Amino acid sequence: MIAIYPGSFDPITLGHLDIIERGCRLFDQIIVAVLRNPSKSPLFTVQERIEQIRLSTEHLSNVEVDSFIGLTVEYAKLKNAQALLRGLRVLSDFEGELQMAHTNHTLWNEIETVFLATSNEYSFLSSSVVKEIARFGGSVAHLVPQQVAIDLCRCYTETPLE
Ligand code: PNS
Repeated sequence: MIAIYPGSFDPITLGHLDIIERGCRLFDQIIVAVLRNPSKSPLFTVQERIEQIRLSTEHLSNVEVDSFIGLTVEYAKLKNAQALLRGLRVLSDFEGELQMAHTNHTLWNEIETVFLATSNEYSFLSSSVVKEIARFGGSVAHLVPQQVAIDLCRCYTETPLE
C-alpha cells in the first residue's frame, strides 16, 4: 500500500521525521509530497525543502520525496496511492485535520486518511516554532535534522534581525 504524506515542510522537523519513520513500518511506500503553494511565502524554496527531506530520510529505503501542486487527492490518484498520512499532535490539530480528511474523502471516496499520534516528545513541535527559535539565535539542533539546523543558521545569519 502506498501512502502520501503531504505538507508544507518549511522546514521538516524531527516530528515530521518521526511520522515518516513510523509510517514506513505500516506502508509499502511513503511518498513525502511538498505542496507547491503559490499563495504562501515560505522560508525555503521547494527544491531546498525536497533536498532537506531527502537527506533526512536517506536511511529509509521505502521513502520517495516529491512535490505537487493542486489537490492532494489528484496527486494521490496519479501516484496510485490509497492513503494519506497525517500526524496528530494535540487536540487543537484534530478539528482541521478531520475537516481535511472528510473533504478529501468527498473529493475521492477511495482515499483514506491515516492519522498517527505524534510521539509525546514532539507534541509541541512545529515548523513555525523552529523558525521562531532560529530567528532569535536559539539552538534548534534537538528539533530538526542536522542539515536543516545548518540551513536555518545560514538563513538567519545572512538576514540578521533589524
Ligand atoms: O504541512 P501543512 O501546511 O499542514 O499541510 C497542509 C496540506 C498541504 C496537507 C493541505 O493544505 C493540502 O492538502 N493542500 C492541497 C490542496 C487540497 O487538496 N485541499 C483540499 C483538502 S482541504
